[in-house]
Amino acid sequence: MSPETVYLNGRFVPYAEAVVPVEDRGFLFADAIYEVIRCYNGRPFRLQQHLERLEQSAAALEIPLPHSREEWARIIDELLQRNGVRDGSIYLHVTRGVAPRAHTWSEGLQPTVVAIARSGGGPSPEAVRDGVRAITVSDNRWGLCWVKTTGLLPNVLARQQAARAGAYEAIFVRDGLVTEGTSSNVFVLLDGTLYTHPLANILPGVTRGVVIELARENGIEVREQAIPATWLERAGEVLLSGTNSEILAVVEIDGRPVGEGKPGPVFSRLLEAFGRRVAEETGGSAGAREA
Ligand code: PDD
Repeated sequence: MSPETVYLNGRFVPYAEAVVPVEDRGFLFADAIYEVIRCYNGRPFRLQQHLERLEQSAAALEIPLPHSREEWARIIDELLQRNGVRDGSIYLHVTRGVAPRAHTWSEGLQPTVVAIARSGGGPSPEAVRDGVRAITVSDNRWGLCWVKTTGLLPNVLARQQAARAGAYEAIFVRDGLVTEGTSSNVFVLLDGTLYTHPLANILPGVTRGVVIELARENGIEVREQAIPATWLERAGEVLLSGTNSEILAVVEIDGRPVGEGKPGPVFSRLLEAFGRRVAEETGGSAGAREA
């Protein structure tokens, strides 16, 4: 279902009236950045981290952000209220602006800003309970994967391939190393240590940060170290983290079971800790929500 009201360039407008010109550079070149932020109990979760990452993405692409963090927070609050969203997500999208099509841009373009709030989201109760399947795919993305750009075709194609194979996520493998999922970060438990790719040409996931924090608080050793794809076959557990996925256990990769083929104890501990952290910070509860 479409939300009632969308934020577009300084105004809250009905969904159907929220349109952008055909020569918006976001449309022409994916010359744009975005964030997806979960909200629980009407409160955005880890908003500062998302806004910090938005600022880093904007700086990387030299897109001048038109709002301060305080202004973004106010826009998001008003959008959530106007749409009556308590448990859902906010999509923020900033493009370089509108200009006759040319690869180069000139200074002074007015960025296009869109924000959409929707109820629902989160992993299905079945995915949380039973775990999910994944496939591995070659990571054919560019060298700036830490920039959260809307240029997501490699992710889209890989995710579609996963869906066709009956899997939830596609895990990218670059030079024999596991980088991340198409919209999630990947953790691999081997001999009691939780490994995840270091912050080098992957998206610095906000949920990834939460998982590392929770693991360390719970006495689980975490190493930010590249993971050879061959470890996936030996792993005790494999986890995904992401704004929409929260934390999920991967129980099968490329048709082979992970560990015992069911969500493991480290997953359970982290999921519980995640639920507690969400409750502490927002007063809400993690998990699936009806749209
Ligand atoms: N995706 N890696 C990639 C490539 C992603 O696109 C995402 C998020 C993540 C997880 O980051 P975070 O924990 O900050 O959500 C990792 C969003 C949700 C999306 O594209 O819809």
